[in-house]
Amino acid sequence: MENSRGNFGSKLGVILATAGSAVGLGNIWRFPYMTGQNGGAAFILVYIGCIFLLGLPGMVAEFVIGRHSAANAARAYKNLAGRGPWGVIGYMGVFTSMIILGFYAVVAGWCLQYLFASLVGQIHGDATFVKNYFTTFSSDPFRPLIWTVVFILVTHAVVVKGVRKGIEKASKILMPMLFILLLIVVVASCSLPGAMKGVEFLFHPDFSKVNQKVFYEALGQGFFSLSLGTACLCTYASYFSRQTNLVGSALQIASIDTLIAILAGLMIFPAAFAVGVNPDSGPSLIFITLPNVFQQAFGSAPLIGYVISIAFYALLALAALTSTISMHEIGTAFFYEELHISRKKGAWIETTVCVIIGIFCSLSCGAVPALKLFGMSVMNFCDMLTANILLPLGSFLTCIFLGWFIPKQIVKDEITNWGTLRHTAYGLFLFMVRFVCPVCIAIVFLHQLGVI
Ligand code: TRP
Repeated sequence: MENSRGNFGSKLGVILATAGSAVGLGNIWRFPYMTGQNGGAAFILVYIGCIFLLGLPGMVAEFVIGRHSAANAARAYKNLAGRGPWGVIGYMGVFTSMIILGFYAVVAGWCLQYLFASLVGQIHGDATFVKNYFTTFSSDPFRPLIWTVVFILVTHAVVVKGVRKGIEKASKILMPMLFILLLIVVVASCSLPGAMKGVEFLFHPDFSKVNQKVFYEALGQGFFSLSLGTACLCTYASYFSRQTNLVGSALQIASIDTLIAILAGLMIFPAAFAVGVNPDSGPSLIFITLPNVFQQAFGSAPLIGYVISIAFYALLALAALTSTISMHEIGTAFFYEELHISRKKGAWIETTVCVIIGIFCSLSCGAVPALKLFGMSVMNFCDMLTANILLPLGSFLTCIFLGWFIPKQIVKDEITNWGTLRHTAYGLFLFMVRFVCPVCIAIVFLHQLGVI
């Protein structure tokens, strides 16, 4: 039975929807260039350590708070906080997720433009052409803006249908599609002559490259990739049933997320190495380096190149969509429950706010260079503010709140499903959330602020 708030209808729905939130541009765009810049396999090992040691307890913490309260992010924290100040974490999550959705939709919109351009065969030419194509497009005042708005509206259309008929149904269709497209591109990329060098780069760790920075970057990337710190997982968990195994689900979702990130590496590095391109080119990797790589790599078989390029940008757009849906739902649930309006109205408020943020971010990328905050373009500022400050702060406070202030019995009941599951994980979880996670997050946070 679906209650009035809605809930996920099946175990598979829970896993696919939450993994859909986790798997996004973070995996397919950010993870490969971070790996490229931080030395390949050694970074991946540190990353996996961060995900399973620190990310996993963080996920379970949000799940506990969300399922216990069965309410939107703000109310979930407020319910447990009583009169204390901790309720603020929920509001912070709603605010952070709106900013993320604003700039994320800009990059997602670029993916739509590239999907369209690949379909009509527009990105054909030498390296300078491809580079100019990106600069001209991203500094155009209208086209990127239109794609950004289109992306947010598509997200809106899914969210407005509700948890089961919108979010869960979309995830069940989009996630398998994403996986199939990913496998197609991985196979094509790995079968290129010279591809093995890329595979080696991914799987042969060079530990001399591991320094403090690698650790910081891996943790930040891990948290972003798992959608931690904005009460996103808390909002989704409020739709979980009492039978959902919180620790088991978190483990499955983190594994899927890591698998997809590594597959994304297996899609990008072999192709890049096959044509002798350096993989450490940073954020422009997928919009400048890769179109070139595809053209050169499949130069003798243009049809394959055409199909691969379409598959690649389609898969980016799908991955982005399942993530934007989860960000949108945080605000939608907040507005409709707190303002006592319909879900539809709540979704429209969220869409309007995010479109406005998206417009500023998009214009700041080239068309209106004067749109700056603290010396950065609005887009980079939003990225920096959320990834470096608000996300770590959100997860830090969540860990402290859950570890030290929420009654232990509530935590134990949620982790063991009221005593029906073994509670081996409980003691370890509590130890990580009380001590290890806050200390590690605090170190990274202070480093990012330049204090240490
Ligand atoms: N995890 C997604 C990605 O890897 C992005 C994302 C979705 C996110 N929801 C979030 C990031 C909430 C932070 C907070 O692309």
